[in-house]
Amino acid sequence: MKLARTIEELRAALEPPRPGVEVGLVPTMGAFHDGHRALFRAAREECGTVVASLFVNPAQFGPGEGLDGYPRDEARDVRVAEEVGVDLLFVPAAAELYPEGFGTWVEVEELSRTLEGRFRPGHFRGVATVCLKLFHLVAPRRAYFGRKDVQQLSIVRKLVRDLNVPVEIRAVETVRDANGLALSSRNVQLDTGERVSALALSRALAAGAAAHRAGDDPVTAARAVLAGEPGVEPQYLEIARFDGQAVLALAARVGTTRLIDNVLLEGDEP
Ligand code: PAJ
Repeated sequence: MKLARTIEELRAALEPPRPGVEVGLVPTMGAFHDGHRALFRAAREECGTVVASLFVNPAQFGPGEGLDGYPRDEARDVRVAEEVGVDLLFVPAAAELYPEGFGTWVEVEELSRTLEGRFRPGHFRGVATVCLKLFHLVAPRRAYFGRKDVQQLSIVRKLVRDLNVPVEIRAVETVRDANGLALSSRNVQLDTGERVSALALSRALAAGAAAHRAGDDPVTAARAVLAGEPGVEPQYLEIARFDGQAVLALAARVGTTRLIDNVLLEGDEP
């Protein structure tokens, strides 16, 4: 695996383009877990060259949103990426992507204002901007995103459509642990008690999906589960539509850690 820290090194590593070899890109913020691994594997299966980026993007963190405390372990991430068959890992410093005087931002309207956008103003502006930069720098044929962050996935799809970026956005299912907890880099911040409390999120979503299948209201069913777990402080619990699919989405604080999760509502319109 090659490692590139600068745009120059990245460009050099991608040259010359190999005819017929498709490039897949997996953007990440590191602290790799099996969710990231699933994205790398999906890219590995479909693309001749797999590029991953490891960049804790300051532009998508608001004040007090944990940029400084975000889990970082580059040495381990390099090993994981290598093991899973990434060909090129791009690990830029913040000043490489946002040099002095940087001042151009990508705003995906409407979609960026609901759910996460209500609680994290500016978050999706940071996500959209860094993703567009990565698409330009790597020029991948496909880029891989997790359904765990379903609003982000939908925003990236819209960005690519609206700005005519020639990349196919591929979605990967949410990877969960044996107890149902959606894997997240932030899970390492949970203590033992909080890890138990956090299980209420996926339990609530499962109860919501089951209620929906039975013709009942998913939000009421999910809310009842969350109400039974005092360690969880919900921020939103809503039905949303992304790319024609209804999902039940939630965000909650467990201690000082903010977690999000969602589940597809299959079948009839909720
Ligand atoms: P990060 O949280 O590191 O996630 C990188 C990718 O992994 C995202 O597409 C995310 O949806 C996916 N992912 C995370 N947890 C997952 C899980 N349990 N199952 C499946 N996929 C999962 O999301 C970001 O970074 C950033 O916002 C980024 C897109 C890199 C822009 O900075």
